[in-house]
Amino acid sequence: MLKRGIYYCHRDLDRILDCVEKGKPFYLYTGRGPSSGAMHVGHLVPFRFTLFLQKAFNAPLVIQITDDEKYIWKNKQIGQQKGFKDKLSYFYHLARENSKDIIAFGFDPEKTFIFIDTDIMGGNFYKNVIKVQEMVTVNTINKIFGFKAGDPVNCGQIAYPAIQAVPSFSSSFPDEIFGGKQLPCLIPCALDQDPYFRMTRDVAHRLGEMKPSCLYAKFIPGLNGPKGKMSSSSSTEGTLFLTDTAKQIKKKINKSFSGGGATLAEHREFGAKLDQDVAFQYLTFFLENDEKLSEIAHRYSKGEMLTGEVKRVCIDTMTPILMDFQERRKTITDAMLDKFMTVRELQLPEYTAVTKSES
Ligand code: TRP
Repeated sequence: MLKRGIYYCHRDLDRILDCVEKGKPFYLYTGRGPSSGAMHVGHLVPFRFTLFLQKAFNAPLVIQITDDEKYIWKNKQIGQQKGFKDKLSYFYHLARENSKDIIAFGFDPEKTFIFIDTDIMGGNFYKNVIKVQEMVTVNTINKIFGFKAGDPVNCGQIAYPAIQAVPSFSSSFPDEIFGGKQLPCLIPCALDQDPYFRMTRDVAHRLGEMKPSCLYAKFIPGLNGPKGKMSSSSSTEGTLFLTDTAKQIKKKINKSFSGGGATLAEHREFGAKLDQDVAFQYLTFFLENDEKLSEIAHRYSKGEMLTGEVKRVCIDTMTPILMDFQERRKTITDAMLDKFMTVRELQLPEYTAVTKSES
């Protein structure tokens, strides 16, 4: 994903790499807003990448599940419509279910702490929340998040960004989690989360904290083409869900937006527009074999390869990834979830410092 330019920009990543060179640990922080029970292929990107980072650096990881954020932003009736007592119990339920999906990606239970906002609020966490809230004016929030005079903004929406900010500081967690150590933080996520972390970085020094480093990804396109973002809540047509069957995967990819020529003659003459072609784009995200990908790019853009063939490669790439995920998801129990959510000491890596010449 780094080589392919899917994770394509960062803030202060070099500071984290310097740390590792000096033999000092850091931690990873990412999150999920539990807006729906149906997670999709777009979520494979940040979580698989975070998993790669956890393994590559042996790093501890905290995952924030923001039931509060979704409660504050979503319409009032949604809980009852879905048959829950109220809106909050609905989002809390989703928070737990999504957390099981996240565990199924393969995170290390000795190194990963998953927390739901409405559970963790209090203690060190809330102390840091109010410190951030004191430092950031409503005006600043309006500017960063684009709220305008007259927008029906509630005060929870103004207050929420501080809650997404504080997991960037190791001191926000119960002392057990990091053994009371102050550690630098790296946040892998999609680019749309940058406003939160710009705000966080602005206040960090005044709080006596380190600025978090960030590594940002672009979005995967929806099945309907490069203009649609993949979403759980809008069309099910445009979205490949983590729960889709092999048959649905095949059908959806076969119907996905194509960058190939309108007729065979046109395709042979002008070739495919790779940047428009959903199946090809998915291959850039998920086909690991570089040689195979560049061969497809070459032959498809010249019109030698046909859309149907590229879609077949895409189906053959996505199906095992999703089937494998579904197998692992079946094995995740409430007891496993409780373990990931228990306050306990996370294993820190033991790096050995490298000297400048070795690095
Ligand atoms: N706001 C994010 C969302 O709606 C959830 C989130 C919370 C998050 N903390 C994060 C995402 C840290 C990435 C990194 O999905």
